[in-house]
Amino acid sequence: MSSASDQPDLMDAPDIEGIDFAFDDIEDVHAVLAGLRAKKPYAVVPYAGFRALLLLSHELVTAAFKDEASFPSAAIYSATTEAVLGHTIQCMSGEEHRINRALVAPAFRRKLMDGHVAGILEPLAHEIVDRFADRGSADLVAEFTHQYPIQVITRLLGLPVDDEEQFRRWAYELFHYPFAPEAAERASAEFTAYVTPIVAARRAQPGGDLLSTLATIRDDEGRMLSDEEILSFLRLLFPAGADTTYLGLGNALLALLTHPDQLELLLSAPEEHLPWAVEEALRWEPPVGLLPRMCPVRVRDWHGIDIPDETPLIFGITAANRDPQVYPDPDRFDITRRAMATLAFGDGPHVCLGTFLAIAEMRVALKVVLERLPGLRLEEGAEVRVKGMLTTALRGPDRLPVTFGG
Ligand code: HEM
Repeated sequence: MSSASDQPDLMDAPDIEGIDFAFDDIEDVHAVLAGLRAKKPYAVVPYAGFRALLLLSHELVTAAFKDEASFPSAAIYSATTEAVLGHTIQCMSGEEHRINRALVAPAFRRKLMDGHVAGILEPLAHEIVDRFADRGSADLVAEFTHQYPIQVITRLLGLPVDDEEQFRRWAYELFHYPFAPEAAERASAEFTAYVTPIVAARRAQPGGDLLSTLATIRDDEGRMLSDEEILSFLRLLFPAGADTTYLGLGNALLALLTHPDQLELLLSAPEEHLPWAVEEALRWEPPVGLLPRMCPVRVRDWHGIDIPDETPLIFGITAANRDPQVYPDPDRFDITRRAMATLAFGDGPHVCLGTFLAIAEMRVALKVVLERLPGLRLEEGAEVRVKGMLTTALRGPDRLPVTFGG
């Protein structure tokens, strides 16, 4: 982590001490990030016993996502996930990534996702709310947001509904690989054994589900996804698609419940405001907050920064989404802002493949929850806040005790 230049090494001079950006649950994270960004668009921060370069401005985070040559996605994901998820598209770059992504992307097109709203997304949201709607109180994290996204994925894939609890456990264990590698390796093996025969069956007799699409799709040159490519993609889909959306939904609900004027406005004209409420929630508190990356090879004068080889980076989406240069009065949660939260889903070649699905899910979930639970409010005295989950990379509330009706 040192450079062979006669210049002083950027990483030798931290801009903040006393907070570990890999592990600490930073309660006042927005204030900390704003304080750093007011000085420079980037900062050198403590990170898992090392130092990382944290990018803070909208301009730098956008540029970094697009610069796959300097900060390849593969450099970080091969080290942190490949052992259990396999060689996923996050571990690929260049031509290999382009070919694989082109094969899986058609299954996630906007039209297709919007087409699932009436058939899968809405009925499922009602089914989950049915379980507690009569009770007058619930924990919306345990009983709704934690359930919904993973069940959406299993239903889209056409996997047996009765095994949903099992999928939730596998997804959790796969995602926690860095902290509990043995459980993650076991989950990976169990998942593979479970899904392999289903993939073979769908290849032989495809249906209208997403897994059949993945099993049979061919690109213009006749290439198909191999079994292992499908399996790695499925292993990735559970953590990437479920854990993110569950936190995104929690953040959106928490934002609305702690801003009653905005909730009232939304309820006054849901058709008009709902899409923008989702966008604003993703901007205000993005579930993928501080995304780790690597700079494997020295990069000179990157937007004026000389980055040594092997430097850990953090793409500060949470900071970029409140950059006052792009979002005036950025700390205000305002559903009339009408601004896109583009960086919440990343950018560049690895931009989120599930963007349209995630947005459709969030819109449907908020619509159903607000329609079915009139008078929704946080339980009196409940202390709820957005927390760093799985280090600081992901952010969301771990509970949302609410009351409704009456
Ligand atoms: C609110 C919910 C979501 C958020 C905030 C989110 C965010 C992100 C971000 C920031 C990335 C880029 C990661 C990087 O560059 O290292 C990403 C990639 C990805 N996401 Fe999402 N995501 C969400 C939901 C979903 C859903 C529902 C799916 C699929 C069912 C999904 C599938 C993927 C995949 C496959 C990638 C990797 C793409 C590639 O490497 O080419 N995501 N997501």
